[in-house]
Amino acid sequence: MEIIKVKDYEAMSEEACAFLVERINRFENPVLGLATGSTPEGLYKRIIEKYNQNEVSFKQVKSFNLDEYVGLEKEDPNSYYYFMKDKLFDHVDITLDNVRVPNGVAADLKEECETHEAAMKAAGGIDIQLLGIGANGHIGFNEPGTPFTSTTHVVDLDESTIEANSRFFNSIEEVPTQAISMGIDTIMRSKEILLLVSGENKAEALAKLINGEVTEDVPASVLQNHANVTVIADEAALSVIN
Ligand code: F6R
Repeated sequence: MEIIKVKDYEAMSEEACAFLVERINRFENPVLGLATGSTPEGLYKRIIEKYNQNEVSFKQVKSFNLDEYVGLEKEDPNSYYYFMKDKLFDHVDITLDNVRVPNGVAADLKEECETHEAAMKAAGGIDIQLLGIGANGHIGFNEPGTPFTSTTHVVDLDESTIEANSRFFNSIEEVPTQAISMGIDTIMRSKEILLLVSGENKAEALAKLINGEVTEDVPASVLQNHANVTVIADEAALSVIN
């Protein structure tokens, strides 16, 4: 695992942008695994800048998102599909037919999970998976206790995750209680992983991920078993380790 320490959120976003742009330009048909949340927002902003400066193109990119809330339509401003359109897809030359965010309103959610897995496989697997981390150590929506063998599945969200994500909703009651998420095994099958971590509230989780025991109680700890992980973390996120 390579750990790149940067000063703050802005520096993390800058470094992550350079990392991703280099790979998108290097691969003929890049397959990206994408994340939502506050962590990658700065990265997406910078990637759009690079696109506007003709330094990167998404014409050949396929992308798969990690997760989506159950029950939210694509048009719902709190859906992850909407987030991706708003923060990235609408501003670059990606073909919407080449992006896949799990469908949280599918009639058969289990079938939707299988379709997401099959589509990733058909694309040749994920080249670069972008991840954030929850303060409880979750990756994707894989909460503590999720089996390392899990593939894309429907999850019941932890109280702490519902609370953390309520900042985007009018009230905590509006936060969906379930989501579809790539599983731990799905994430581990990606060829390369880029984990971004910013802020003191992630410091405990990051310390456990780097130095702790590999255990299903800390989902992110599984990344110790992956051969090609880069962590870009700011000083606050690394404050517990140093
Ligand atoms: C988002 C995702 C989540 C977030 C994590 C951190 O697609 O899968 O695991 O990466 O909850 O969220 P933020 O970045 O908002 O702190």
